[in-house]
Amino acid sequence: MMSTNSRRKRCDIPANIMIGFLGAGRMAQAMARGLISGGVVQPSKIWASDPDPTVLKFIQCLGVNTTSKNEEVVKNTQVVVIAVKPNVVSSLLKEVSPFITKDNLVVSIAAGIRISVIEELLPHASRVIRVMPNTPALVQAGAAVLAPGSAILKGDNDLVAELLSSVGICEEGTEANLDAVTGVSGSGPAYAFAAIEALSDGGVKMGLPRALSTKLAAQTLLGAAKMVLETGKHPGQLKDEVCSPGGTTIHAMHTLEKAGFRSALIDAVEAATKHSQFLGKLG
Ligand SMILES: NC(=O)c1ccc[n+]([C@@H]2O[C@H](COP(=O)([O-])OP(=O)(O)OC[C@H]3O[C@@H](n4cnc5c(N)ncnc54)[C@H](OP(=O)(O)O)[C@@H]3O)[C@@H](O)[C@H]2O)c1
Repeated sequence: MMSTNSRRKRCDIPANIMIGFLGAGRMAQAMARGLISGGVVQPSKIWASDPDPTVLKFIQCLGVNTTSKNEEVVKNTQVVVIAVKPNVVSSLLKEVSPFITKDNLVVSIAAGIRISVIEELLPHASRVIRVMPNTPALVQAGAAVLAPGSAILKGDNDLVAELLSSVGICEEGTEANLDAVTGVSGSGPAYAFAAIEALSDGGVKMGLPRALSTKLAAQTLLGAAKMVLETGKHPGQLKDEVCSPGGTTIHAMHTLEKAGFRSALIDAVEAATKHSQFLGKLG
């Protein structure tokens, strides 16, 4: 069950809240950068740990606190984001578990790792929320869905939703939704990048300069997405509205249909969802 109003303010983010990232790779950087550039959290209120000094140097450019010790992040922050690859989550949680207290709210963004698995590896009644975000959080255009664990406190969901809403939209869902969410929005930016690249290739094939073609393709996806979100119209209706009888667009649509365009996207979402389910079974 999803909430319908993702833009409603759920709560105020406490001014002194400290946010930690265990793992300082792509997602941690996207989220930290989004939170900072959106003016939601000061860089000094963010900690990040990673074994790779080069990665730490990169995130240090944002002005956040960095360390190679995960324990230090847990001790210095209230919201602790698990931002390592799924295959590392279990060993990471075993390592930090002795330092997790009731003051920590653990937010896992790891694809496929079930809340029950995380809760089992942490002290009894730890506060856990599982989230599936995506990288456009970097430019305040992320899409995230959160699912609450069994021992969260009143306000925990709202706090995480508010943090994530500051870098895009955040919907509340159930854990059963999250594999499919991974298939649509978690992995989705890659499908959109591939679409932009292919549209740009088409423009270049037909004689446009590369830079112009890429810019037009990207802006077209952005504009179409905004029309879906802002008009509330069904995407099929919006498509119909730009297909004039016998016109250029309906000719192009027929070509896409023959190439299995829509089936390919449905298959892609199914493949990503199934892989997320597989990761979940590995535990
Ligand atoms: N990227 C996306 O679009 C996306 C979208 C939604 C969700 N996610 C989820 O976000 C999580 C992170 O993905 P990512 O793309 O940001 O991965 P990433 O770029 O590989 O970042 C993970 C970082 O964690 C570090 N790390 C490994 N072991 C660690 C440990 N024990 N303690 C602390 N740090 C450790 C890694 O270092 P080494 O490289 O040296 O191992 C790496 O720098 C994943 O679970 C993924 O499922 C990603």
